[in-house]
Amino acid sequence: MRLFSPAKINLFLRIVSKRPDGYHQLSSVFQAISLGDTLTIDLHDRDELTCSDPHLPRDDSNLVLKATRLFRKKTGYERGFRIHLEKRIPTQAGLGGGSSNAATTLWACAKLANPDIPLNTLKDWGAEIGSDVPFFFSQGTAYCAGRGEIVHHLPSLTQKTVWIVKPAGGLSTPSVYKQLNFGDAVSEKVVRRDLDGFLAGSMSYFNDLEAPAFSLRSDLRALKEVLLEGGFEVVLMSGSGSAFFCLGEGRLPEQEDVEIFPASFISRPLNEWYSESTFSEL
Ligand code: C5P
Repeated sequence: MRLFSPAKINLFLRIVSKRPDGYHQLSSVFQAISLGDTLTIDLHDRDELTCSDPHLPRDDSNLVLKATRLFRKKTGYERGFRIHLEKRIPTQAGLGGGSSNAATTLWACAKLANPDIPLNTLKDWGAEIGSDVPFFFSQGTAYCAGRGEIVHHLPSLTQKTVWIVKPAGGLSTPSVYKQLNFGDAVSEKVVRRDLDGFLAGSMSYFNDLEAPAFSLRSDLRALKEVLLEGGFEVVLMSGSGSAFFCLGEGRLPEQEDVEIFPASFISRPLNEWYSESTFSEL
């Protein structure tokens, strides 16, 4: 079985508060995009994972292997899976690559071993692997709250072209969250107002994690400036960075240490997984 494992971007991301469990309460619109990895998976006597990227850890910290293990724990299934991951999504980029791989693996395990498991159950299991995993069980556009695991489906958004701009070097999510300054925090009422505006069509693209990420890496602020000067209508960091997405027409930087990926918004048909070419149509 061969499955596409898409990246995500956050069109809107507000951090509401810090929770007693150390996570942050967020309010975010997530969107799946056509930049993605390919996962090939079959039944096997034990788990075996190969990857096109030799740097990706293949031990217990790998989210694909976490997903197969969780699947067995939840279902009592006793066989393993042979998996090959063709990696294209940059890591430590805020594009949800590992979370998407975990969600895609859970979906594939269910299809291969136990097709009767409801999608909602897989989504809840996904939350045990990571905060961004449940989003991928939406249909491609969703409003996510809580620590990310509360997923409200939204109608598909059309966007033919989005440019993903990834500078060299990534950012670790916990270190970005640690830089958040709640002295400047906005109230829940403001978050709600901004979100309602966004959903009603007056899109105000926003990411509360930009400032903390820029405080760790000033080159990211400079890259954002370059992209805005290039004429793009929207330039926003995705998740906890370090990648940006750009909407509209503009001049892309030609620096050697900056990777550029063209993509579009995608949606997932009901009862099918994502594919690279499912462009959302309204
Ligand atoms: O859930 P996940 O393991 O992907 O989260 C990675 C890290 O990101 C957490 O350990 C935490 O530091 C931070 N995080 C957070 N609030 C969220 C999501 C992630 O503080 N809502």
